[in-house]
Amino acid sequence: MKLLVTGGAGFIGSVVTRMLLDNGHDVTVLDDLRTGHRAALAPDATHVELPVHEAARVLTPEAGFDGVLHFAALIAAGESMVKPELYWHANTVSSIALIDAVRAARVPRLVFSSTAAVYGNPTELPIPETAVKAPTNTYGATKLAVDMALTSEAIAHDLAAVSLRYFNVAGAYLRDDLALGERHDPETHLIPIALDVAAGRREKLQLFGDDYPTVDGTCVRDYIHVADLARAHLLALSAAVPGRHRIYNLGNGSGFTVKQVVDVVREVTGHPVPVEVSPRRDGDPVELVASSALARDELGWTPEKPTLHDMVGDAWAFYRAHVLGQR
Ligand code: UFG
Repeated sequence: MKLLVTGGAGFIGSVVTRMLLDNGHDVTVLDDLRTGHRAALAPDATHVELPVHEAARVLTPEAGFDGVLHFAALIAAGESMVKPELYWHANTVSSIALIDAVRAARVPRLVFSSTAAVYGNPTELPIPETAVKAPTNTYGATKLAVDMALTSEAIAHDLAAVSLRYFNVAGAYLRDDLALGERHDPETHLIPIALDVAAGRREKLQLFGDDYPTVDGTCVRDYIHVADLARAHLLALSAAVPGRHRIYNLGNGSGFTVKQVVDVVREVTGHPVPVEVSPRRDGDPVELVASSALARDELGWTPEKPTLHDMVGDAWAFYRAHVLGQR
């Protein structure tokens, strides 16, 4: 297939791009490198340096694209509470422009990076796709708006749409010839920050709230390895059906508290990780754990690296080689 990947220079988009190329697809990456990394671009893909809202310049009817995978977005839930306008523009307004371009160019299928954050504080655990959607942060709301736009687009204009609702993505994609890992600037995610502390590049980890109603008072999240998540995108592309918007949660179904994650980082790295309890971060849901039964049943998706040790181990291997420069 001829595919357009927005955000193909980012963490997840770059891994999916490699897998698509390995499976014989022709890939064009649309990424303005605002948060993506030039070094993460696949040499075998065409790169177009444009923002998502200008996708129509590439996605012309003559170009003959068979599908779009839309990753490009702002992703920090905490920041989305402080600068919501950035998130509505980057995540929702740009996605609507992309959907317009997809319709105008008669591209048959679109796979969208949605999020567990659409559920807010869930009323049932593990969370099925049918659970109440009540985001506690602007980030989740901006993604839910696009999910809803895709539902109506699929029905009205026969688009084959799939939303994948990611839980907390971790690990790195490591092969003999390749290493793609997580590098955000500034970094806001728990595991890369904990690795920074373990490596002695930060003094301590701020633990955002230890008075939540959980086993140890810290928030619970469901972690998924980036390679497992990436494989689900290839399955989703094949499973997309015209006129339908399919939605799948992607997680492992096990919840880990922030303290438990930090313990695994201490174990895997063999280094201390000093922690300082700080106030709660605005917008954080208490507990997000996925039911991915639908992805398993309908897509045939099976995670190959479901353990947090594997994810932290791969993230640490990437961190040592590519951030610290040690091999
Ligand atoms: N946390 C800390 N200290 C830190 C960083 C994080 O205590 O320095 C805590 C957070 O408060 C939260 C947990 O660690 O309780 C995980 O936080 P992350 O920032 O790593 O991830 P989030 O759960 O906020 O969000 C992530 C992605 C979103 C995605 C969501 C889905 O950033 O894009 O997972 O669950 F939608």
